[in-house]
Amino acid sequence: MKKIIALLLLISLSFASQAKPLELLHWWSSKGELNALSYLENVMDRQHSGWETKSIAGAGGKNAMYVLQARAIAGTPPEVAQIEGTDILSWAQLGFVNHLDKLAKTQDWQHTLRPLVTQVNSFEGRYVSLPLTIHRTNWLWLNQAVFKQAHLTPPNTWSDLLVVIHQLKSMGVQPIALGKDSWQISILFENIALGLGGSEYYHNALVDINAATINSAKTHEILSVFRAISLAINKDLTQSTWQQETEKLFQGQAAMQITGDWVIGELNVASEETRNNITCFVAPQTQGNFVFNMDSLISLSGSQHFDQIEQLFEKLSQKTFLHDFNRLKGSIPPRNDIDVSDYNACSQKSNQDYSLSEASNTLLPSMTDSMAIDPRKQRLLVNEIYKYFINTKMTEQAFISNVIAISKIE
Ligand code: GAL
Repeated sequence: MKKIIALLLLISLSFASQAKPLELLHWWSSKGELNALSYLENVMDRQHSGWETKSIAGAGGKNAMYVLQARAIAGTPPEVAQIEGTDILSWAQLGFVNHLDKLAKTQDWQHTLRPLVTQVNSFEGRYVSLPLTIHRTNWLWLNQAVFKQAHLTPPNTWSDLLVVIHQLKSMGVQPIALGKDSWQISILFENIALGLGGSEYYHNALVDINAATINSAKTHEILSVFRAISLAINKDLTQSTWQQETEKLFQGQAAMQITGDWVIGELNVASEETRNNITCFVAPQTQGNFVFNMDSLISLSGSQHFDQIEQLFEKLSQKTFLHDFNRLKGSIPPRNDIDVSDYNACSQKSNQDYSLSEASNTLLPSMTDSMAIDPRKQRLLVNEIYKYFINTKMTEQAFISNVIAISKIE
């Protein structure tokens, strides 16, 4: 089957590429993301280079990946696409991506990229994607004015957070900025799993999906906290995007948000007052760990425009570009030779914590954000987590049995 798809793609690519301008497909859609993207578009020089960018919104890129697959098979693939982690592996295993050997050599990526970045963007010893960012997902964002008004202190543990949730609810304040969206809810879950389970549990459960770990007392403990939060807030959830929830946090309509540092991208385009009012804390009980997500770009093989793609990638691999783009995006650079002393305090802490976590071998891949497991299993697991949060009748054992069934998929 894979060979048929590969043949279809290669035949279709040879006809499709003359029909349209050069396209970069991505899923960035928030104010902060678009602010960072506009910088990328300036470097891309759209007016003269014939490049255009196209957004397929949907946090985590699930929708964008579906569109990429459909367009590749239909013969109208983009020249370049934003992609993450294990999705890169899937496309590389099918032989659908261009190797970036020349660029890797001119940029000396073997030495200038952080080791983990090389690991994520290579396949069988060759670079197959261009690294753009490193985001951290184990963050708690907090509106200081709301906490001060409520005479509350930032929660250091998940049990503290549950107490704070009930106190905020009693005051009519939305405790957590969270949309009724599987990607957002799954990031909350993986932070609880890490906070209560620790990095060994996290790795065994959410990277290896080890049946014994899933069927353990620790999982029951994590699910009971996850359910307690759900019972407190899920009736008030709306179908809002992460950035809409971030806006509620900024406006004081919500008190906290547990999500990645793409929030910094939103702070970059917010008011000075908001920037001074929103603080970052490592998610409860996850100090010492850095849960990573990375943005990369792939170019699909068979394109007639590989020379223009290489020219664009050359620009997007420069230190100056990566310094400025990550500063705007709220992420840290994928290279190890970029000074971030002019980044905001949260990003600088992210960079420091990355180095500490790298040195102590405690870097962990975000399962929700496609860095840890096979994309099919990831989407099934995220959906299971979502079902458990929304359906308060679902038992812990049902969740555990379903996740073990997912782990058995070949
Ligand atoms: C992630 C992506 C980030 C960020 C986030 C929210 O998957 O890697 O760049 O923008 O989605 O859209």
